[in-house]
Amino acid sequence: MSTVSAPRLLITGAGSGLGRAMALAWSARGARVLVADIAEAPAQETVALCTAAGAAEAHYLKLDVTHEADFVAAAAWVQAHWSGLDILVNNAGVAGGGTVDGISETDWEWIININLLGVARGCRVFTPLFKQQQAGQFVNIASMAGLLNPPGMASYNVSKAGVVALSETLTSELSPWNIRTLVVCPSYFQTNLDSSLRTHDPAMKAALSKLLTSSDITADDIAAGIVAAVDSHASLYLPHEKARAAWQMKQQHPEAFAAEMQAQARKQAAAKGRS
Ligand SMILES: NC(=O)c1ccc[n+]([C@@H]2O[C@H](COP(=O)([O-])OP(=O)(O)OC[C@H]3O[C@@H](n4cnc5c(N)ncnc54)[C@H](O)[C@@H]3O)[C@@H](O)[C@H]2O)c1
Repeated sequence: MSTVSAPRLLITGAGSGLGRAMALAWSARGARVLVADIAEAPAQETVALCTAAGAAEAHYLKLDVTHEADFVAAAAWVQAHWSGLDILVNNAGVAGGGTVDGISETDWEWIININLLGVARGCRVFTPLFKQQQAGQFVNIASMAGLLNPPGMASYNVSKAGVVALSETLTSELSPWNIRTLVVCPSYFQTNLDSSLRTHDPAMKAALSKLLTSSDITADDIAAGIVAAVDSHASLYLPHEKARAAWQMKQQHPEAFAAEMQAQARKQAAAKGRS
């Protein structure tokens, strides 16, 4: 890191939800924050909030994670204005769901392009800069969905499992250059994620919105945990206690875990009158 007191961060999808919460958490520590998003108006709001929260600097940069050229421009921006970058947070993501025979190929391509390739692009474009600096931190936002693979959301699960695999690979591959990678796997929490949902199932939007409001922790709680996980050089962070227990159960009792997932699937099928 260049300075301990004013780390230089780029956060994708920082106009809303967890991205905004992380921007504010690091701003409160006097960081320099580049708020990147496709949606300008909410991202400009985040910039104003970062400044009020104590950021040394906060700027908006239009960045669509599906466009490699936007990451290349972002890398040029941080080199020109800050002579480098300490932390890239690959956070931007969207929601998708439905049964495996219902999710269209177009929707598979859409979600993989944003949730998985969006993270891969960020890592690919910024790795040469981090290697040159002999320092850098990736924070990749995956999901418990990428570890537990619940039924009824195959395309989202696969996109997030890919982010876990990419992150674990980089944790070792880039370690010779002092480059760290943290992958974060939250369970549900309240944000605007449901507004991005693509599905063939009309009941799914209400179900997702309900799950988002069911969380016992907030985006701010998770952001604080992520800052602490970066401080402690962690490579995996699971913010939700219940989800940590489910992950342990899957590792220790895979058959019992599979039976639980099957029971969940039967419930979903029954709700649709197919049992
Ligand atoms: N909310 C949850 O329950 C939950 C759970 C696990 C993981 N996550 C993950 O957390 C991350 C943040 O999501 P959130 O819940 O804060 O949702 P959100 O919808 O509130 O925020 C997502 C942000 O990403 C931006 N975005 C979307 N597509 C983009 C693109 N192509 N390029 C750049 N920006 C883009 C949106 O404009 C928005 O500002 C996502 O990766 C999501 O999958 C969320």
